Amino acid sequence: MSDCYILTDARLAPMHLEGEAGYSQSGAIGVEGDTIAFAGAEIDIPERFDQMPRRPLGGRLVTPGLIDCHTHLVYHGSRAREFEMRQTGASYEEIMRAGGGIFSTVKATRSATDEELLAGALTRIDRLISDGTTTVEIKSGYGLDLETELRMLRVARMIEQHRPIRICTTFLGAHAFPKHMEADDYLTEICLPAMEAAAAEGLVDAVDGFCETVGFSARQIERVFEHAAKLGLPVKIHAEQLSDQGGAILAARHRALSADHLEFLSDEGVAAMAAAGTVAVLLPGAFYMLKETRKPPVEKLREAGVPMALATDSNPGSSPMTSLLLAMNMGAILFGLSPQECLEGVTDNAARALGLSQVGQLKSGMRADLNIWDVTDPAELTYRMGDAPLQQRIFGGVTC
Ligand code: NIG
Ligand code: FE
Repeated sequence: MSDCYILTDARLAPMHLEGEAGYSQSGAIGVEGDTIAFAGAEIDIPERFDQMPRRPLGGRLVTPGLIDCHTHLVYHGSRAREFEMRQTGASYEEIMRAGGGIFSTVKATRSATDEELLAGALTRIDRLISDGTTTVEIKSGYGLDLETELRMLRVARMIEQHRPIRICTTFLGAHAFPKHMEADDYLTEICLPAMEAAAAEGLVDAVDGFCETVGFSARQIERVFEHAAKLGLPVKIHAEQLSDQGGAILAARHRALSADHLEFLSDEGVAAMAAAGTVAVLLPGAFYMLKETRKPPVEKLREAGVPMALATDSNPGSSPMTSLLLAMNMGAILFGLSPQECLEGVTDNAARALGLSQVGQLKSGMRADLNIWDVTDPAELTYRMGDAPLQQRIFGGVTC
């Protein structure tokens, strides 16, 4: 049960505090039910909080609950054998063209029961929860047939009944297409009808597509986006991961919430994203695992004012990782983000990448999804290589 209390003697993560309360002062967060009712300096606590129980934190750091805004964590099977193949020289694209990669996970996912899919997802969710994650986006895309795409999304939604976490679902029917079909036929006959069926069942918060030589062309992804617009659904894209297909420009034209990966993003792509307010979701786990050498243009994104988010991309092929804290460390070391940018990348900017306005900031009116860390310096979260000591996780005002 949630109640009312006030966290005092806290170091509030430096982000959009009410007033100009610096984070080095003694900060306070007032919680009423599932909502933040006050966030700021202790000396500014409103009188109406006088009677509420106080929980002094001894100067510990408080951040918003972390948000993993790009995952594929409902799936079955392992791709460890392919990892071995990659270690002896095969590339990600070669393995996929030979019918492995995403296709091997599709095969395993189709043959798994809902219970098996849920059990695997919960194991991975528990790892994310232990890092202080309170919101997770989960994509479909390992079904590539109507039934399995819908099953994946239903399982993703089910997670909220088993764990204290918010799940955002993304329809990624345009992740790959079966070997025996043309891409356009797959879109017409399977992907777009599946999108409609999933939306009708309330299973879709956003629509995504894999724009790549081994995926779909920009023109094909545009068909997906147009269909999403008809259904009133916001869009996102996997773009410029292995080559420049102009996916980010297309996404910006469709006012996409985010464009993700972006190692091969062009200057025009940066400008288009800046103008559209599309968030750049950087995925250092996939960059690391695929031993990419070309980095996303972080300096240009920064200069253009494109908001940058970070996510695990948790998936069995290119990023079998389940630590958002480790993604923060990788974002700093591999891509050159500052610790502050990494923190914003898994809170405020991650919320924007999901179109969420009630999470991601320490601000009154926001949902009380909070982490209390056994550190005082926010840089510790990025510095410790996936090992920051979470003292308490609060989800909707409740410690859990
Ligand atoms: O984000 N690029 C497409 N999707 C995933 C990889 C999926 C897979 O290999 O199973 C990604 O990296
Ligand atoms: Fe992905």
